[in-house]
Amino acid sequence: MSYAAPLPARGTFAAWRAAARRAISHRIAPDEIDWAGGGGLFAAAPLPAAPGPHVAHVPESFVKLAGSVIWHSAPERFALLYQALWRLDAGETQALSQADPLGRRLNLMAKAVGRDIHKMHAFVRFRELPGPGPRRSFAAWFEPEHNTLEPGSSFFARRFADMDWLIATPGLTARFEAGQLSFGPGGARPDLPEDASEALWATYFANIFNPARIKLSMMRSEMPKKYWRNLPETRLIPEMLKDAEARVARMQAAGASPARPGAAPVSTRYRAAMPAAPEVPQSLTEAREAARHCRRCALCEAATQTVFGRGAPDAGLMIVGEQPGDREDLEGEPFIGPAGALLRGLLQEAGGAPESVWLTNAVKHFKFTPRGKRRLHQAPDRGEVIACRWWLGLELQHLRPRLTLALGATAAFALTGRDAPLAPRRGTVETGLHGGPVLLSWHPAHALRAPTPQQQAQIRADLRADLALALRMAEPDPA
Ligand code: URA
Repeated sequence: MSYAAPLPARGTFAAWRAAARRAISHRIAPDEIDWAGGGGLFAAAPLPAAPGPHVAHVPESFVKLAGSVIWHSAPERFALLYQALWRLDAGETQALSQADPLGRRLNLMAKAVGRDIHKMHAFVRFRELPGPGPRRSFAAWFEPEHNTLEPGSSFFARRFADMDWLIATPGLTARFEAGQLSFGPGGARPDLPEDASEALWATYFANIFNPARIKLSMMRSEMPKKYWRNLPETRLIPEMLKDAEARVARMQAAGASPARPGAAPVSTRYRAAMPAAPEVPQSLTEAREAARHCRRCALCEAATQTVFGRGAPDAGLMIVGEQPGDREDLEGEPFIGPAGALLRGLLQEAGGAPESVWLTNAVKHFKFTPRGKRRLHQAPDRGEVIACRWWLGLELQHLRPRLTLALGATAAFALTGRDAPLAPRRGTVETGLHGGPVLLSWHPAHALRAPTPQQQAQIRADLRADLALALRMAEPDPA
């Protein structure tokens, strides 16, 4: 008897796990299952729907390994994993070891998948799309070596939680809108040269991005998605959708009469008329320049200037404060007022040099209320912090610090997305929205404002200790 166990292109791990569990519960041997779907000469039966009597026990390490290997592009990955499962269930504990050819192969495959995900996180280049909505939209084209968009997307969902984005790949498209991540069929690489201008790329993506115009649910009911990937004509779906959209626009423009034969497609006209899409800065220098013109929130109206980060562009440690103060606003440099003087002094006492780290703030404009001749500091609100995360994200992306130190609750929220009270978190490391480690500490102004000398001394001591730890954690790995 042979069995066919075709697996979907999305949710593949959960589907393989469920199928493998059922198969082994019936003691179906590895060579009896065709994971590619049983397209051979002899009809293959589907796996039994109900579980059998046998209960397999496998180590957690296998589940973890399978959770990576499943995204490899090798067609035999499902069969190899099932062989490993079969052998583990038979008590062959060495089946996953490096000494075993199968174990070695699976470990190499898992490594390749990990590398591929890492590359995607590093090399996906978003283009901003022109659009009217309050959330900004970005899109990117990427060609991973393996099927890594699904496991790799949660990183982008955390990192770019406050914007809409789309990543198109040949096999799958990930779409993040209003905080919801979903997947759809992949598409063909757009017929644009490598060095096409941002505006051309933006036009291409703008045509495929707006799902409000696409009746995907109707298409799904006409042709269930699970079949899309195996039908040659479905390669044309993105093109068809694009064209349908252009047709609708043309019909609307022409008062619902059919399009004039030979009329230029809407995308061509749009391309010509569209102003260049704002470019995503490709370096710290470009980001600093772009930030000078930032109007992402209302703080730019009253502040003197944008105060972008400063320091060594190859720094392993990035220190993030709340926002520039009065002096910083006037002079355009972070941490040069009283809190900055305290921070720089403690950094030196901890063995670091202020010019060898990157100093920046969660919010790049000074927020204040005028009181007579004075400008009184006001904490930024969540919306302002979220709007400004764009710049912090660019600093993180281009600097790639080994450690980020968050000073105070605002920086902690900007970097981790969590606004739980700071006191129990101080001195601990959390994973930032960018995927890297974030050490949490007090803001130096907290020491300046503390009511008693004892409290001030304690906060300084904590901050000094955290700075020393941060410097150690940010050291390069010994080669
Ligand atoms: N406080 C901050 O958080 N940042 C500065 O740059 C100055 C004071």
